[in-house]
Amino acid sequence: MSNAAWDFIVGKDDLRQTRVDAAPAAGLAEGDIRLKVESFALTANNITYAVFGERMGYWKFYPAPEGWGRVPVWGYAVVEASNHPEIKVGQRFFGYVPMSSHMTATPRKTATGFFETSPWRAGLAAPYNQYRLVDGHEAHEDEQSLLYPLFMTSWLIADMLRDDGFHGAKSVVLSSASSKTGLGLAYLLHRGGEAKVVGLTSPGNAAFVEGLGYYDQVIPYEGLGGAAIDEPAVYVDFASNAGLRAAVHHRFGEALVYDCVVGGTHWEAAPESHHGLPGAKPTFFFAPDRIRKRREDWGPGGLEAKFAADWPVFIADSTRWMKVERRAGPDAVRKTYIEVLDATASPDQGFICTP
Ligand SMILES: NC(=O)c1ccc[n+]([C@@H]2O[C@H](COP(=O)([O-])OP(=O)(O)OC[C@H]3O[C@@H](n4cnc5c(N)ncnc54)[C@H](OP(=O)(O)O)[C@@H]3O)[C@@H](O)[C@H]2O)c1
Repeated sequence: MSNAAWDFIVGKDDLRQTRVDAAPAAGLAEGDIRLKVESFALTANNITYAVFGERMGYWKFYPAPEGWGRVPVWGYAVVEASNHPEIKVGQRFFGYVPMSSHMTATPRKTATGFFETSPWRAGLAAPYNQYRLVDGHEAHEDEQSLLYPLFMTSWLIADMLRDDGFHGAKSVVLSSASSKTGLGLAYLLHRGGEAKVVGLTSPGNAAFVEGLGYYDQVIPYEGLGGAAIDEPAVYVDFASNAGLRAAVHHRFGEALVYDCVVGGTHWEAAPESHHGLPGAKPTFFFAPDRIRKRREDWGPGGLEAKFAADWPVFIADSTRWMKVERRAGPDAVRKTYIEVLDATASPDQGFICTP
C-alpha cells in the first residue's frame, strides 16, 4: 500500500486497535487543496490527543469511519493539487497533519501561510488550524516537527510561572521528567535560576535525565517520599497519574502552592482524581489558551519574537541528546505508534515518519 494514498486509523475505544485504510483521492472542491504529507513526528503528546480525542475535540480534525479516529501529528506537507487561486502546487507547509499519506484543506491565505477553514474544524483552537509556508527546505526540519509544539508548551509554562512569581515556590517539581516537553521546561527554568528544578522519572530514565544537566535534582518516582526538596513547591504534572499526584500532594501538604496539569503520559493509570488532597487544587494547562492571552498582551508578533530568542538555542542543544530516527511507510507508522503508546522507546529517541 505504500505507493497508494492511505489513512492510519485507531480504535477510539481501544487505542491498540489500528488499521490502514485506502484513501483514494476524491475530486477537489472549488477553493480546496490536496497536500501530500512528507513527514511527521510521533511522541507521547500525540497519544494524549487520542486519549482526549472525544473530550477535547481532537478526533474532529480529520474525518474517519464510525468508531475510528485519525490522530493529529505535527509535520510537513507539500501541495500536490490546488483549486485555490493563491496556493500553488509545490508549496510546502508546516502544521497539523493526519497520520496519512495525504490530506485535503480549505485554506484561507494568511500573511504566513494559510488558515484551515474546513467546517468541521471551526471552533477548534486556532493554533491547530494555522499552517506556516516554508520557503524551500529549512534547517532542522525533523527537530522542528518533534520539538516545536512541545517546546512552545514548555516556553509558555515557564512564562506563566514567571508571570505568577512561581507562586512563591523555591522548587518546581516535574513528573515525566524525561519527556521532551518536560526537558524543554527544565532547560528554560534551570537557565533562569529562579527556583530549583526537580525531575521525577522512572528509574530506567533517571541516568539519561541526570546526564543532561537540565535538572538540579532527579528523583526516581519511588524515591519521592524520602527526598529532601526545597519548599514551597510547584508541581508541573505531565503524567496525570492519580497515585503519583496523591504522593506529591501528601509529600508537600500545604507547601504545594500550585499544581499545573499539562499532560497524561501515564494514560493507562488510574483516572485523574484530586478529591481530599492537601495543597493546591490541580489546574489544567492548555497551551492555545495561553497563546491567545500572550498574543493579546504583546500584540502582533510579540510572542513569536520572544519565543524566537530561545527556540534556536534549545534546538541546537537538543542535537546533543535527541537521536532522530526516520521510518518510512504505513507498517513503520504502525510500529512506531505502538512503541510510543506502550512507552517502549527510550527518551532520547525522536521518531519521524515519512508516509
Ligand atoms: N497541555 C498542552 O497543551 C500540552 C502540550 C504539549 C505536551 N503536552 C503533554 O506533555 C506530555 C509529554 O509529551 P511529550 O510528547 O513531550 O512526551 P515524550 O517525549 O514522548 O515522553 C516520553 C516520556 O514520557 C513518559 N511516558 C511516555 N509514555 C508513557 C506511558 N505509556 N507510561 C508511562 N510513562 C510514559 C516517560 O517518561 P518518565 O520515564 O520520565 O516518566 C517517557 O520517557 C504529554 O502528556 C503531552 O500531552 C501537553
